[in-house]
Amino acid sequence: MIFHYQYNTSQKIQIHFKYSADSIVSLLTKENTAIHSSLKTIEWKDNKLIMIDQTKLPNELIFVEFTDYNQVANAIKTMVVRGAPAIGVSGAFGLALAALQSSVTTKEELIRELEIAKKILFETRPTAVNLKWGLEAIMKVANTGTTVTEIKESVVQTAKKMAEDDVQINMAMGKHGSELFNDNDTIMTHCNAGALATVAYGTALGVIRATKDSGKNIKVIATETRPVQQGSRLTAFELKHDGIDVSLIPDTAVGYTMAKGLVNKIIVGADRVLRTGHVFNKIGTYQIALIAKQHGIPFYVASPLSTFDMKSNPEDVVIEHRNGSEVTGIGDKKTAPEGINVINPAFDMTTPELISGIITEKGVARAPYEESIKKLFEAN
Ligand code: MRU
Repeated sequence: MIFHYQYNTSQKIQIHFKYSADSIVSLLTKENTAIHSSLKTIEWKDNKLIMIDQTKLPNELIFVEFTDYNQVANAIKTMVVRGAPAIGVSGAFGLALAALQSSVTTKEELIRELEIAKKILFETRPTAVNLKWGLEAIMKVANTGTTVTEIKESVVQTAKKMAEDDVQINMAMGKHGSELFNDNDTIMTHCNAGALATVAYGTALGVIRATKDSGKNIKVIATETRPVQQGSRLTAFELKHDGIDVSLIPDTAVGYTMAKGLVNKIIVGADRVLRTGHVFNKIGTYQIALIAKQHGIPFYVASPLSTFDMKSNPEDVVIEHRNGSEVTGIGDKKTAPEGINVINPAFDMTTPELISGIITEKGVARAPYEESIKKLFEAN
């Protein structure tokens, strides 16, 4: 079933498949979830990019087809696709589409067009470092090609390889991370660092999946994650779909659940990790880490090496501020007075002394982070 679907801009985008809320649960057990028992968020088929429209979850599961890099840029900006690794890979596929769209005949012209596309894709979201990483990796490959045909072929192949690697890396991270969790743990997570934030399997939720698959009985507490509600819309949806015991709490109940002993470990993802172990992640992560410290609850971060920024200092990192309308309403319903001032940062920074360990595909970094992170990179 293919039809047109209009979102946010005047661009018409092809929907590959659309399923109603009623059919989602049965659908999820079929072909789309065959890979590692979790959703496939990003896929490349017949020179087209297919992604789940995450703005429609959990009510509708819609796979949207992209053939134009401008549409991909718009999808990243409007959070049709979101989560650091997912925007890194979709940015790379965006550049692959830009190459395929091009009708130029020389390498120099193609590189010029790709640089323009890279800038447009890069300016969509500033905090997650994976976007820069994905775009730069594609440009590097493009620059080494000699002919237009060769470059087109190699950028597509590189983006496809990145998508495949993402799943393998998440599974390796899951394996390392699962050793930190015990039978009967109740694990809190924030935002969505799952299959939907990656190509498949997830980072923090990948660790949770691997822990469960290792035979341990675990429960999860997911925060709602206002204002965009990635926790309730995406994490709760994903875990429920995989049959993992999950309870949803309002963000304001984080202190209550820890004080009552309802949580004994925490795991979150990351949008950027600095060489010093400073972690940038979804707004609210910092206060969760602070309360965890107060209650002596281990606080872990799961993050692939592609999310590390070994050059920047904390003050260099740009925190994205999003539209106030995310805070003044829920869906179409207004929940704040007209004209109110809003501060709506999308991310915050958690300092290294609050973090018990950073789980990567190469192992777990522990304090002092500068030393242990360096070692993980050297093991690469
Ligand atoms: O604004 P979002 O939804 O893109 O933010 C996502 C997060 O903060 C995730 O925790 C992070 O990207 C890690 S995803 C594996």
